[in-house]
Amino acid sequence: MTDFGQFAPRLSAAAPELFALLDRFAEIPLLVVGDLTLDEFLTGQVERISREAPVLILRHEQTRQIPGGGANAVYNLAKLGARVQVAGIIGDDPQGIALKTIFEDVGIDTSAIVVDPSRPTVTKSRIAGHARQSVTQQIVRLDRKSDELPSTAVQNQLAEAIASRVPDVPAVVCSDYGEGVFTPPVIQAALGHDRVIVDAQKELQRYQGATIFTPNLPEAERAAGYALTETATVEQAGQDLLQLTQAQRMLITRGEEGMSLSATDGSVEHIPAFNRTDVFDVTGAGDTVVAALTLALCAGADYWQASVLGNLAASLVVRQFGTATTSVEELKAALTGLLETI
Ligand SMILES: Nc1ncnc2c1ncn2[C@@H]1O[C@H](COP(=O)(O)OP(=O)(O)OP(=O)(O)O)[C@@H](O)[C@H]1O
Ligand SMILES: [Mg+2]
Repeated sequence: MTDFGQFAPRLSAAAPELFALLDRFAEIPLLVVGDLTLDEFLTGQVERISREAPVLILRHEQTRQIPGGGANAVYNLAKLGARVQVAGIIGDDPQGIALKTIFEDVGIDTSAIVVDPSRPTVTKSRIAGHARQSVTQQIVRLDRKSDELPSTAVQNQLAEAIASRVPDVPAVVCSDYGEGVFTPPVIQAALGHDRVIVDAQKELQRYQGATIFTPNLPEAERAAGYALTETATVEQAGQDLLQLTQAQRMLITRGEEGMSLSATDGSVEHIPAFNRTDVFDVTGAGDTVVAALTLALCAGADYWQASVLGNLAASLVVRQFGTATTSVEELKAALTGLLETI
């Protein structure tokens, strides 16, 4: 039995509509603009100490490549059944090809990705090792990225690719991990849509006029300029950030505290985390929230229903290691299970 207090009867009453919304997720077309990242995991067994230097020598066992950063939001949307077009920048390198292949394997349209030969595809490679019959542990991480902004030509090419696709989708998602994709022309092109969902790490005011933002707690604290240690300050931040961005709603995701949805009329709705017991890895949970929230809005949900479905999706991926995805079938099963426990 989970004690959700006043939230429980509201969730029960909304259940039929939530199931109906999930049934409408499939085939919704979407444009996702993102800082595309490749997460790489190289693992091997420890063989011996090197004679070149006092370091371990690992015998390679496997390399796993999965979408990270903004690419994780893209992938989450595709796994939820959306017809996704992705816009972003990759390098002319094997990592860029890997990312594109991962996307195309699940039917994502990659034609709005700009290849910039002057920059590496943002890649985070973890090297992890294990002794015989011991747990695997990360030893070092190697990041490939550029600190330069993309050239004006690349910025404009990407902005044009976005602008030409904006009329054909019911929403645009911006997944901004601060890796250089979101320059003013790109943001302006994305904001050409009247429904824009923004998940940005900093400087939310760049997206003035977007529909809804989904900052996590540290991002909301940085944007507000004060600590969000209690409900009252979270509520204040919701209002301050709505002022700053001129958005319709501010959805602050609060990790194990769930999420808080603030509206321009001063009201706020708190949604508790649905699963606090089997939490293994919260990495990428925010990307999953954005994916389910966006599809729900496009399927006709109000902001509260969409946030609840985002919260539900997050409650599933925090049970899996690494960035993860979920499906409509899993969401329905989880909703059924949740309704039985409240
Ligand atoms: N420890 C936790 N226990 C239960 N639920 C959690 C926990 N952490 C996250 N969640 C769920 O995931 C949602 C999003 O989490 P969080 O606020 O940590 O996002 P985030 O920091 O943006 O994630 P990321 O940037 O790695 O994608 C929360 O609103 C909640 O539903
Ligand atoms: Mg996040």
